[in-house]
Amino acid sequence: MQSCWSCPSNIALVKYWGKREGQLPLNPSLSFSLKEARTTTRVVVHQKSTGSHVFLFEGKPSIFSERIENYLCALKDEIPWISRYAFHIESTNTFPHSAGIASSASAFGALALCLADLDRQFGETSDDQFYQRASQLARMGSGSAARSVYPGFSWWGYSPALQGSSDEYAIPVNGKIFPGYSQLRDAVLLVDSAKKSVSSSAGHQLMENHPYRDKRIEQANVHAEELLRIMQTGRYDEFFQLVEQEAFSLHALMMSSVPPYLLLKPNSIRIIEKIRDFRNQSHLPVGLTIDAGPNIHLLYLSENRDAIQRFIETELLSLTENRAWLDDRIGDGPVKVE
Ligand code: DP6
Repeated sequence: MQSCWSCPSNIALVKYWGKREGQLPLNPSLSFSLKEARTTTRVVVHQKSTGSHVFLFEGKPSIFSERIENYLCALKDEIPWISRYAFHIESTNTFPHSAGIASSASAFGALALCLADLDRQFGETSDDQFYQRASQLARMGSGSAARSVYPGFSWWGYSPALQGSSDEYAIPVNGKIFPGYSQLRDAVLLVDSAKKSVSSSAGHQLMENHPYRDKRIEQANVHAEELLRIMQTGRYDEFFQLVEQEAFSLHALMMSSVPPYLLLKPNSIRIIEKIRDFRNQSHLPVGLTIDAGPNIHLLYLSENRDAIQRFIETELLSLTENRAWLDDRIGDGPVKVE
């Protein structure tokens, strides 16, 4: 039996930062799925007696083999048939691993979709539970992956403000969002491709004893609820202000953790200042967000693409590494291959 899925990465507008036992988030997060940055994964299962697990990434033995092995092992109670089979898993990405895009989101999204699909073939998951099940399985591999299994905007984490929300899986929220946001584009400006000084997993752990832990949980809850409310209308200035505040809050948390981390580079700050100056002068609806690294995600609307491309080429590319950037946009979610 086999299954093959292509799944996008996503970019968080309200950030997941900090988790509890069982890979459950400390706070709700809100993101949109990208279109171009994707992982395609094929999973073939065969009786265990006929061989052992094989994990290939871009045709070579995967550097994530141990993480995938641990993941499958952790799912044994959740999916009992896992223990009876040997897995042959092959993955490819549309973007370079060092590109500063959260590859764990698309990687675990694609793998979880394959597992949920196989679970459906085994008669354990029904069609109407499929994406929720895939989101839950993706979450157990990487928290942000829970949000990648849907098109457009997803919300992960329980909030009394959103009916149906859960810590266990993400839910799609496209129906609540003003249509103008379907024009969102994300230009990822690659400032530094070096390995991050702190992994996301280590970063989440820093929240456990963080001096601002409780305040952050409160802030993220307010931000998620407020952002969803803002996104019911086309008030883009309020949208970009809140999204930027979230990104800076994430970095402020890292700078004030024990030990402290500074992940922004001088050129990250220069790009941030250029974007703010450009916005002040042009009055166009543009803004930015940043994940746990130095690369800047410039967010804007398709209708302003020409002006933004000119701005990127003339003012920003000289501040990126080898003039590298990724031209991405909000996407239609995962696709079953074949
Ligand atoms: C800063 O999902 O990569 O991108 O659950 O340990 O795999 P694990 O962490 P991960 O954390 C992502 C953190 C973030 C914010 C976000 O995507 O919400």
